[in-house]
Amino acid sequence: MAKLPVDSVRTAFREIVRAIRYARRVSVDPQNVASSLLAVKDLRIAFSGQEAVRGISFDIAPGETLGLVGESGSGKSATSLALLRLLPPSAAISGCIQFLRVDGAVEELLSLPEEAMRRHRGQSIAMIFQEPMTALNPVMKVGRQIAEALLAHAPRTPRAQVRERVLAAMREVALPDPERRMEDYPHQFSGGQRQRIVIAMALICKPRLLIADECTTALDVTVQAQILELLKTLKREHNLSMLFISHDLAVVAQVADRVAVMRHGEIVEQGSVVQVLTRPQHDYTRNLLASAPTMHTLRDRPLATMVRSGV
Ligand SMILES: Nc1ncnc2c1ncn2[C@@H]1O[C@H](COP(=O)(O)OP(=O)(O)O)[C@@H](O)[C@H]1O
Ligand SMILES: [Mg+2]
Repeated sequence: MAKLPVDSVRTAFREIVRAIRYARRVSVDPQNVASSLLAVKDLRIAFSGQEAVRGISFDIAPGETLGLVGESGSGKSATSLALLRLLPPSAAISGCIQFLRVDGAVEELLSLPEEAMRRHRGQSIAMIFQEPMTALNPVMKVGRQIAEALLAHAPRTPRAQVRERVLAAMREVALPDPERRMEDYPHQFSGGQRQRIVIAMALICKPRLLIADECTTALDVTVQAQILELLKTLKREHNLSMLFISHDLAVVAQVADRVAVMRHGEIVEQGSVVQVLTRPQHDYTRNLLASAPTMHTLRDRPLATMVRSGV
């Protein structure tokens, strides 16, 4: 008899355990309607025994944008990847990630079977990253790529409707001349336009949660402002919830309703944007604020981080 590879047996076993946990945990209780779309409780992530995320908890309400801010290496991306269960198998994850289904049931994403999780990715939870080219295929026309994002979750959409949805998505993210440009390849677009294409792909299945991880970091300031404006408009029009991640508190403050400040894998402070900006409770937040250039920054005085690091 052929020997089954140990890895596939392990994976299958893990999936069965997950399915059992899922069946136990999924709760449809109309009496107890959760107010959060996403509730993360005591999330811990470790890589080779090193804890990168140390028991963080946060909520995102329907239609709300939570800004997650912190210096590089503080655990922001690891957190966002854990929400979609996209971390490598070597990552040890514990805690609870609850997601509110359309029917009012609350699902525990960490114990969801892989098949159900795959349906969530892109459909109810979409993600955009810093570098749009990582999400785009350089040798495929952009219209086709946006169509594929739709067909991945709605494969039976009639052809004519697919074209209409693609054009509508391109219009929605203000890509110029969509009928003509859908035939172009990614390299024929600017960096800002490429990020708009990725946003169109992310939103075409009408997700309820959008995770944006440093999505404007690679763009120059003017284009960054345009993309932030676009995200704000889309969020308003679609009642979209967003987890907006950036190392830059000034950027986060432009789009977020609430802010969580992360440092060394912990959330050291969270509150409304106004609260965090005007009455920061933690020294680290005060430093982040002091290091952000503003209209009132004195040009003859170095920024706080530069003073601290001796640059
Ligand atoms: N796949 C991985 N394997 C090993 N360590 C990782 C991996 N991903 C992230 N880390 C580590 O986890 C910590 C947090 O990283 P990350 O979440 O990418 O930070 P941020 O997005 O805030 O810059 C870092 O110390 C990083 O080196
Ligand atoms: Mg990151």
